[in-house]
Amino acid sequence: WAYHAPYVKAINELKRERNAVILAHNYQTPEIYHCVADFVGDSLQLAKLAATSDAEIIVQGGVHFMAETSKILSPEKVVLMPDLEAGCSLAASITAADVRALRAEYPGVPIVAYVNTSADVKAEVDICCTSSNALKVVESLGSDRVIMLPDRYLAENVAAQTKVKIIAWRGACEVHERFTAEELETYRADHPGVKIIAHPECPREVVEISDFAGSTAAMIDYVRTKKPARVLLVTECSMADNVAAETTGTEFIRPCNFCPHMKRITLPKILDALVHIREEVTVDPLIAARARVSVQRMIDLG
Ligand code: 13P
Ligand code: SF4
Repeated sequence: WAYHAPYVKAINELKRERNAVILAHNYQTPEIYHCVADFVGDSLQLAKLAATSDAEIIVQGGVHFMAETSKILSPEKVVLMPDLEAGCSLAASITAADVRALRAEYPGVPIVAYVNTSADVKAEVDICCTSSNALKVVESLGSDRVIMLPDRYLAENVAAQTKVKIIAWRGACEVHERFTAEELETYRADHPGVKIIAHPECPREVVEISDFAGSTAAMIDYVRTKKPARVLLVTECSMADNVAAETTGTEFIRPCNFCPHMKRITLPKILDALVHIREEVTVDPLIAARARVSVQRMIDLG
């Protein structure tokens, strides 16, 4: 704390001076999540907050596709990404040219892009989704076949809940694909009564043996409302730290998979971005206008 405190103080003062807000994803480290963030949430919540905030500057505590989504929804705002190299294995797995090739291969089949994609990809698709609304988005399209990209595991997990035939891309989250059913069975045996709750970016076999699957916000809600005596959050490691810090009466069992991209964001980098107004995220206005249609269509679904 002695190391973090001066950064926390300076960031919070500068935020007020600059009319800036920090939007932090649930995977940010506790000193960001609890001490400097103005809003925390899952990808859908952060996208909605970016659209409605009246701050002049958004500092994105998260990864590049999240900052792009903020910029797409708020083109008039300055969006700062404290480390522009903070990427995502899912976003990196597909390009706009790949989407155009899919369109040619499957004419007339609607294309849904997970928000974990670049603005270029969002500009090519029919609608976006997040892990909290993927099923609803797929079923809203009134088609018996839907292409879902880029996460093959999210696609498989949605396919298991719907009659719509899902055609999936081959991407995966480098954090969630590492969890195995075998590993979780061992935790269950070692910690009787543990509730296992998983993110739908995990392989199907992992979700199948879990007690609940949902977006990061849905996972947090599960812990807050059901108050399990023991819980294992099958997701990025910092989330358990963030939830454990504000939860009493629940023991957190900790497998620990870090997202190296999320961990690029630190207090010193946030301060640096705010002091110098640098690491600004830009999106070509023509791409942004097309991508906005896909993101807004998702938000309008409610
Ligand atoms: P959600 O917070 O929308 O569940 O997404 C998880 C994720 O991996 C973001 O990078
Ligand atoms: Fe991408 Fe996975 Fe990291 Fe989220 S946790 S940013 S999906 S690599």
